[in-house]
Amino acid sequence: MKIKIISGITAMFLLASVDAAAQGTLAEATKGNFLFGVAVNMPQVNGVNPSESELIAKEFSTIVAENCMKPQPVHPQENTYNWEDADKFVAFGEKNKQVVTGHCLIWHSQVGRWMFVDENGKDVSPEVLKERMRQHIYTVVGRYKGRVKGWDVVNEAFEDNGTYRKSKFYQILGKDFIKYAFQFAHEADPNVELYYNDYNVETASKCDAIVQLVKELKAAGCRIDAVGSQSHMHLTRPTLKATETSLKKLKAAGVHILITEWDISVLPSPYHGANVSTSFTYSKEMDPYREGVPASVQQKWNKRVLDVFELFLKYDDVVDRVTVWGLNDAGTWLNGFPIRGRKDYPVLFDRKNERKAVVNDMIKMANKYNSKK
Ligand code: G3I
Repeated sequence: MKIKIISGITAMFLLASVDAAAQGTLAEATKGNFLFGVAVNMPQVNGVNPSESELIAKEFSTIVAENCMKPQPVHPQENTYNWEDADKFVAFGEKNKQVVTGHCLIWHSQVGRWMFVDENGKDVSPEVLKERMRQHIYTVVGRYKGRVKGWDVVNEAFEDNGTYRKSKFYQILGKDFIKYAFQFAHEADPNVELYYNDYNVETASKCDAIVQLVKELKAAGCRIDAVGSQSHMHLTRPTLKATETSLKKLKAAGVHILITEWDISVLPSPYHGANVSTSFTYSKEMDPYREGVPASVQQKWNKRVLDVFELFLKYDDVVDRVTVWGLNDAGTWLNGFPIRGRKDYPVLFDRKNERKAVVNDMIKMANKYNSKK
């Protein structure tokens, strides 16, 4: 009997593997729709766990750096640049013949405090900050000219209510810091695509502010190719209606759309957003699936993934890329946000780097959608 059960499990595993192989990859299935990518961390670039690096190379057509190209890691002091990780990341993508995206040039978080203060610790003048931004952007964009398809030029400049985030960039330069960033990036590499990136783009007031920004940038003669909608989601939020409304608004504004940081948390959350400075205290009630996700919850998550993915396919005339924010559940940022020490299950590969069942359903959905095109 025992041998029979093991052979049954083995058979299921083999069938799943055969099915996955037969299915091909999501990147292959969506080739006619949009690029399908993943955020990559340095252990993956460095091959610390070879199976993760191999999966990334095989399953995805594009990659973005989860952290190593952000302002602070690359430019920790005014006259210091750390290129090692960013260079390895770009080379990793080129070796795997993947499209590489740069994330991110200007962000209120993960930025060296030196950029905003003088030798006495006082805020620098607008002219000094503008010049420091220019140096940063010229140097970083210039270094990867022709090797990076596009840059998240400015990340998360708005609050959910549509007002400008009162970052140091905003406090010193006003909203024009955004225009300057796009202008400098274009001057540094006239051929590279330029994006504005934010979370909760599905929130009407934030989406309207972003649409207004797009209009102002275009009116000022700035290049902006797309808006990145991070798409950090939960089982019920944002609604499909709100998500589709945001896609429609951005399409009407004449920009393309990138789904830049897609994940879907299964955990209860006291907060819906991605402001990394947010945190809440741990409780067992907020970490209910340490032993695994109940089948009923997994089914809800699978359906949620497919419902949202179906929307992305529906708008594939303007959605150019879908990127998942992390390869597997073990490495997701959501295990530590907004509550540290939890176990979440928000992305497409599990803690054993196995493809989740929903991936094959996504591939079938894409193939069926494309067969009717
Ligand atoms: O590299 C250092 C390491 O040397 C140090 O020992 C360790 C402990 O302090 O910190 C390491 O840096 C951490 C970094 O991730 C790399 O692991 C930072 O503390 C940590 O804050 C950082 O978190 C990242 C977060 O952005 C803040 O930059 C997350 O991994 C990353 O997933 C998250 O991604 C952001 C997007 O860039 C923008 N949109 C929201 C999204 C989620 O917050």
